[in-house]
Amino acid sequence: MERQDNKQIKIVGSGFYVPEKVLTNADLEKMVETSDEWITTRTGIKERRMASPEQATSDMTIEACRRALHNGNLEVEDIDLIIVGTSTPDTLFPSTACWVQKGLQADHIPAFDISAGCTGFLYGMILSRSLILNGGPRRILLAGSECLTKITNWKDRGTCVLFGDAAGAVILEKSEDDSGMLSHYWKADGKLGNLLFQPGGGSRNPATKETVDQDLHYLHMKGNEVFKHAVKRMGEAATVALKKAGLTPQNVDCLIPHQANIRIIKATGKRLNLPPEKVYSNIHRYGNVSVASIPISLHELKVGGQLQKGDIVVMVAFGAGFTWASVVYRW
Ligand code: UT7
Repeated sequence: MERQDNKQIKIVGSGFYVPEKVLTNADLEKMVETSDEWITTRTGIKERRMASPEQATSDMTIEACRRALHNGNLEVEDIDLIIVGTSTPDTLFPSTACWVQKGLQADHIPAFDISAGCTGFLYGMILSRSLILNGGPRRILLAGSECLTKITNWKDRGTCVLFGDAAGAVILEKSEDDSGMLSHYWKADGKLGNLLFQPGGGSRNPATKETVDQDLHYLHMKGNEVFKHAVKRMGEAATVALKKAGLTPQNVDCLIPHQANIRIIKATGKRLNLPPEKVYSNIHRYGNVSVASIPISLHELKVGGQLQKGDIVVMVAFGAGFTWASVVYRW
């Protein structure tokens, strides 16, 4: 187990952005053989947002970052590093974080991406903690952003009903009181990588006419396999992270699970014996927005006044890699 001490980092600003266009279950009924009833009962999703053809991941991220800076009463000059978690970068290189740095005119600071699927935001928090507490950057702008509709196969009803586009961002700095990140747990299992992946376009299957004809540039997922692992690993991650903080599920005031499927969200809450009112969900409005789901949930809870000082918040995610992680946070 990794060493953890009582030094903490905390969130001092947050914000998110979702594109204007709403794609409802009724819209999808016209595109593939599916129904609002199937999507609602199997996933909990009612609608999702869709980026415009000219909108890339960095465009959404820049807006989310501006909102987080405004929320934290901070200027770009107050930030020392930009990290973006994404699986749908504008370009394979440069990183989306560099496009964001350009858009924010943050020429004074470094920027890089994290690729950890839906877990990228929590990986980013864990990494930020080490950087900040070890004398690195004073303030980090951490974003989680996805344009998943751009890699969605609109003929595959097993995946096209699930995903949406969104960006969320937070600003992290060292905590001077007892609020902030208390503990974390993070893991990966690359043996299961091909259960959720984008097979084409990388160095394994460079983009050719054939890879495009074979739909390899789209997201591929064995949904029911991923489902089983997600439920098990998210419960495990939250339990271990709580234990590392010297807490139990009884201490938890709010669980923020990655929003992949309402059944996974409910099952994770159940594994921790939490009443439904302590388990946050907004999947009905956005669908699965991967790495953006936790920062968006955090911001909604914050501006909705649903988090009180001292509340114990547990964030937990699972995604491509496979990767999974949990962060325990005192509000
Ligand atoms: O965010 C990262 C992690 N991602 C996840 O955690 C996603 C995890 N997986 C899931 O959320 C679920 O597995 C899905 C929502 C993707 C699928 O739900 P499921 O209950 O696992 O369904 P299934 O794949 O086992 O399919 C059951 C049936 C199949 O029909 P048959 O073979 O029983 O006749 C599918 O063809 O449902 C059918 N089906 C659909 N029917 C109507 C699959 N997709 C659809 C659809 N509309 N959109």
